Amino acid sequence: MARNVLVSGGAGALGRAVVEAFLEGGDHVVVPWIVEAERDALADALCRPLEAGSLTLLAADVAEADGAAAAVEAAEPVTVLVNGAGGFAGGMPHTETPLEDFDRMYRINLRTAAALCQAALPGMTSRAAGCIVNVASRAAIDRPPTLAAYSASKAGVLVLTETLQKEVAEHGVRVNAVVPTTIDTPANRAAMPDADFGAWTPTAAIAAVVHWLASDAAASVRGSAIPV
Ligand SMILES: NC(=O)c1ccc[n+]([C@@H]2O[C@H](COP(=O)([O-])OP(=O)(O)OC[C@H]3O[C@@H](n4cnc5c(N)ncnc54)[C@H](OP(=O)(O)O)[C@@H]3O)[C@@H](O)[C@H]2O)c1
Repeated sequence: MARNVLVSGGAGALGRAVVEAFLEGGDHVVVPWIVEAERDALADALCRPLEAGSLTLLAADVAEADGAAAAVEAAEPVTVLVNGAGGFAGGMPHTETPLEDFDRMYRINLRTAAALCQAALPGMTSRAAGCIVNVASRAAIDRPPTLAAYSASKAGVLVLTETLQKEVAEHGVRVNAVVPTTIDTPANRAAMPDADFGAWTPTAAIAAVVHWLASDAAASVRGSAIPV
């Protein structure tokens, strides 16, 4: 049976692969977007008109409560929530890192997930059905130099995952995270042209794990953080 799947960051590099995985499975997918060009690129890539069948694209800043609520409303009843919205800042020692980077990383990596979970969970718990997959990062575990703001925000995503799973354990909702290393994206290729792209993880490989986590086959997987 087709499910309603809300994918934040669905117009981004990893997000698009996640959207494709759920569309291929016959689900109805809702993607909140901010940048119009990204929305158009997603629609073009999927060869679907903007308002077509199983894909809905909605202008919404999901770091804000009203944007998150609008996204959830467009996808109700939400069976699967993938918190893929995010972004990156880093490369400078902490003493040279603008404090604004901490605010921005917190906002786009953690607050987006927190706001969407707040908006989606009441419906999920009342229906005793739902699955949330958060996208963290290996940096949250390795905590390498020069990435404190990014790593801290992604560590927050892991904390959110574990805490929420404990809160909803009795209500039939599962909360898990994927923990990618460097993903093979156009932005990473442009930023690191001399890197070995073959050592990076393809978006489709991560999308497959996200898709599996949202499946009945993963019904017993709760509160996990799966390295990909
Ligand atoms: N790339 C990597 O190597 C890597 C490694 C580990 C983990 N990750 C994580 O994987 C996820 C996807 O990464 P990616 O490289 O595919 O990133 P990406 O291409 O930049 O996509 C991120 C998407 O999130 C959206 N977004 C950000 N803030 C939002 C908000 N407040 N409301 C709605 N949408 C918002 C962005 O939309 P706009 O552009 O319109 O703002 C963008 O479409 C992120 O969480 C990232 O931190 C990435």
